[in-house]
Amino acid sequence: AKSPSLSPPLPLSQRSRWAPPTLPTEPSLYDGPFPFYRRPAEEGRFSLDAQRRYHPDARQLRYFAPPPAEHPDPAFDLRHGYRDRYVRRDESEREGLEHLLQWVAGNRDRLRAQGDAAGRPVNADFVTWRGHLTKVLTTPYESQEGWLLAVSLFRGTLYVSEVETPAARQQREQRSDMLQELAYMGYKFERYMCADTPDGSPDPTGVVNTNEAFCTVVRTRLGSHSLLFAGEVDCMDPRGAWPEAPACYVELKTCKELHSPAQRKSFYRHKLIKWWAQSFLPGVSRIVAGFRAPDGSVAALETFETMKIFQLIRGDRGCWKPAVCMNFCEAFLAFLKRVVTEDDPQLVHLFAWEPGSPVSYTRHQGAEHVFLPAWYVETMSG
Ligand code: A3P
Ligand code: MG
Ligand code: MG
Repeated sequence: AKSPSLSPPLPLSQRSRWAPPTLPTEPSLYDGPFPFYRRPAEEGRFSLDAQRRYHPDARQLRYFAPPPAEHPDPAFDLRHGYRDRYVRRDESEREGLEHLLQWVAGNRDRLRAQGDAAGRPVNADFVTWRGHLTKVLTTPYESQEGWLLAVSLFRGTLYVSEVETPAARQQREQRSDMLQELAYMGYKFERYMCADTPDGSPDPTGVVNTNEAFCTVVRTRLGSHSLLFAGEVDCMDPRGAWPEAPACYVELKTCKELHSPAQRKSFYRHKLIKWWAQSFLPGVSRIVAGFRAPDGSVAALETFETMKIFQLIRGDRGCWKPAVCMNFCEAFLAFLKRVVTEDDPQLVHLFAWEPGSPVSYTRHQGAEHVFLPAWYVETMSG
């Protein structure tokens, strides 16, 4: 039988052209109650050594060993070693999800044994890096840097992997010596604040090697989305109030010294949002900041409890809201589920966002943007 609603074809010029859906990012659209976010549970750990080699263990975990006072004495010299004791990771090497996938593949029997109603080899809706989610969380308030996220659906799980934007690449390749030294100072701060053993003391004379990393793999849930993600962690506090991982981890940060209430307000508005998002996602309970003086010393230390940051910003009406960040992230993940429905590791949807625009996407079949390695697809198909 013929469908009664079938209308004669319109001339091409009058047909409404199908436009792929987009996702708006205005904060006001996401200003509701804080969504459900399950307390993150650590599923595993891995390390990257001085040569950037993967190890399925915690050998690179370091231990929080702060000085006894808020004003370090003797003073930290964050510039020390920049010229001669700095081994820099090759950032032109795009690693994608590689190390995280190594962890997943190495734990596939355990992940499978966790059981999944949908029969998936990985019992999670999303697998990604924490850093990618941090960028999603801060999107409603970001006015400087856009992002590109590649997404593939493989055996029931959505994999999300960042693609460097042309602007980010240009910035990285043309980074001034001053900015490079600033980045070094962030790493150097870690050397002054951490020891290699739980009872050790920091040894700030050593080489700073940014190939080294310790990563935690956590499992959590945001609304209806189950997440498995990995994030680099600076250290754990062996004497802290929260002995269990991931709450025992401490994030270290540096920031220019604040001299006025206006500077502090600006720091809360623009910088603390990133610090909060980075640590809140994996359940890291504390952020310890070192405030830099112009001579490269640390003028003061300050501890921020991740769960109390919302209290600091509550009084400022023009400030960011944690609920907006989380509601947007939940909406973005739902958007990915709606758009990426074909299970095919060779199919990549590239989600793009620039400040002032909604999130949009393009579809790419085969070659160029494929990011799930053949070895991974093979291992997880067996
Ligand atoms: P700060 O944290 O003091 O900024 P993380 O804080 O995530 O542990 O990163 C450690 C340090 O790496 C940072 O110190 C910063 O110096 C450097 N770093 C991290 N991300 C960077 C980026 N996108 N560009 C330049 N440097 C970066
Ligand atoms: Mg770090
Ligand atoms: Mg840090």
